[in-house]
This record gives sequence, C-alpha cells and structure tokens, in this order.
Amino acid sequence: MKVGGVPYRAIFTEGAGTRVRVIDQTLLPHRFETVRLRTAADAARAIRDMIVRGAPLIGATAAYGVALAMRADPSVASLKQATAMLASARPTAVNLRWALDAAGALLRPLSPGERADAAQDFAARLCEDDVRRNRSIGEHGLAVFREIARAKRSGAGRSGTGAASKRTINVMTHCNAGWLATVDWGTATAPVYLAHDEGMRVHVWVRETRPRLQGAALTAWELGQHGVPHTLVSDSAAGHLLSRGKVDLVIVGTDRTTAAGDVANKVGTYPLALAARDNGVPFYVAAPSPSIDWTIQDGASIPIEERDPDEITQVWGVDEDGVERRVRVTPQGTRAANYAFDVTPGRLVTGLVTERGVCPAEQGALGRMFRRS
Ligand code: MRU
Repeated sequence: MKVGGVPYRAIFTEGAGTRVRVIDQTLLPHRFETVRLRTAADAARAIRDMIVRGAPLIGATAAYGVALAMRADPSVASLKQATAMLASARPTAVNLRWALDAAGALLRPLSPGERADAAQDFAARLCEDDVRRNRSIGEHGLAVFREIARAKRSGAGRSGTGAASKRTINVMTHCNAGWLATVDWGTATAPVYLAHDEGMRVHVWVRETRPRLQGAALTAWELGQHGVPHTLVSDSAAGHLLSRGKVDLVIVGTDRTTAAGDVANKVGTYPLALAARDNGVPFYVAAPSPSIDWTIQDGASIPIEERDPDEITQVWGVDEDGVERRVRVTPQGTRAANYAFDVTPGRLVTGLVTERGVCPAEQGALGRMFRRS
C-alpha cells in the first residue's frame, strides 16, 4: 500500500535481495522510518520489541532472519541456533513457528553451500504468498461486505436510519490487522481496501487498542494514508456503538486459530465478540491458513503473551511542540498485569474469512476447507 503516494511493503529487500528492511512500527504515526535488519539477532529483536508486529509479518521477518543467519554461517548448528532464538521472540502468533518449521524442513537436507540462496528464495516466496493470500481474503471478505450492504439498502440491515447512512457500510475493527501487520494488504483490512477502491462507501470504527494503541497509532495511520474514512473510538465505546446500530459488521485478525475455530487475537477481542453477539452484529475473523494451529483444538491451550507492565502504566506521544515524550499515567509504583491477547471461542465467530473462502468456526469446518483431517 502507499505511504505519501509511494508504494511500500512492511518488509522488503534491496540490492540483490540480501539487504532486508522493515518499517519501524514503534515510531508510527509520528515518524515514518525504515530500519535495516543485518543479522538473525536483529530480526529476533525486531519481533520481540515490536518494531515489526502482526502475525503474518512476524512469520515473514522470521523467514528473513533465517536467511540472514544462513548468509553469515550456513551450518546446521547456525540454523538451529537462529531458529531457537527467533522462535522465542514472541509466543502467541503461530505464524512464527510455521515459518521456522518450513524453513528448517527445506534447508536441513541441503548442502551448506546451497543454504543461503535457498533461504533467501524461501523468504521472498513466503512474502509473495502472503500478499496473494491477503488479497484473496480481501475478495472473500468483499463478498461478505457486498451482501451486508445489499441487505442494508433493502432495509434488512442494522446500522443508521438516514439515506446517507443506508449507503455506508460501517465496519469495526480491533488492533491492527492491516497491511502493516502483514507484507501487504492486511487481513481484516484487505476487504476494506478493496471495497473502498471499488467505490463502495465504507467507514471504519477504529478501536484504539489499549495498551499499545495499535488501532490509534497504526490502523488510523494506514487507513488515513489510503483515504479510507474512519473514526477512532476508545475500546470501551464499542458496546455503545454496537447497541445503537452503528456497526454493520466487526472484522478482526488472528494470531492463532485452533483447528476447532477458537481465535487468539489482541486482548479485547473476546469482549468485543460478546458485545457483537448480544447485539446481533456479525463478527468475522480474517484467518489466513498460516495462522491456523492444526495441532490444537481448544483455545485454552494457546500461550498468551504477557508483556512489560510499563506498556500499561505509561503512554508515548508528541506534545503540543511536536516533542516525543513518554509519560506515566498511574500513581508511581502501581502494579499492572499486561496480557497481550485473549481467546474468543469459535461459537461467537460468525465466520472465518480464509484465502479459500468463508467457513464456520466449528470443529471440522476448517479441516474440510483445507482438506486436513
Ligand atoms: O501484538 P500485535 O500488535 O502483534 O498483535 C497483532 C494482532 O493481534 C493482530 O490482530 C493479528 O496479529 C493479526 S495481523 C493480520
């Protein structure tokens, strides 16, 4: 997608494909800067410190981390060491394990002399696949949007009462499952961009997403760059908007979806799904196949990341003079617990929007869609 009119991807290479760069997401929306990842340790640090974040982008960064390790030392010992370091960077997004397992399976049987180029080709392919997959999710999601827009025009929809509001489809999202969280397009935002580009009137309610404010800082920024109408709301305003008929559908991303359809996503997703269900608003999850953990059924088995409490007790922004500051918002010494994700049971999910189509979040449905037992 474009930044100031220039097309960008969230991770990209320069030169002969060996110089890896990412957008530093810790600086947005106040500064747009890219940083070079020179080593596997840089890639692991970028994931851990959330310079890159979002499940698909974490997987892509890990793949390039392996490529950087293989360029420096293509031995099996180096592959093992890089894989272990990258795998421990963040626990919840299963895309990390998926990318590392696939890279390892490809590289181990090769001779050391073949590994560096093969690892780089693998990472480049993984990125292209991500873009294609997200575009496909966009098309399947767009069909859902069209159906909801049609029902709304015919009077069967929920949100708004005036003629103008009948022509606008109001989408609510949480966190950032946008192009910044992937290589391009995003998952939950892919149908939004396609709908907007084809002239459908779409408006997005952006939840700020405490504590790291991925909605306020990242989703609002990328929608603004693309010209998609949006309104930022506090997380706690969602129930009010849903109950007043101001939301036609909710669509969020996922860090890990179990084979039975339970969804781990940014903390706050579960109460949003509950409020959507109570108000009869469809709740969709954009779920690319690398975010599916086929090894588990029950969402309670998903590891939930706990991050530094400072992310809750402090906020970062720019003051009136444009100076960046980090300030404490709590009494000094307040104890805080920072759970980064929660699990939404499949029963609260209207549909999983995958690259193969939309399916119910139920035992067996995903397996049938991807022909897995
Ligand atoms: O902690 P983050 O910012 O990495 O969390 C991101 C999310 O929860 C996204 O919704 C998820 O990774 C899907 S991104 C397409």
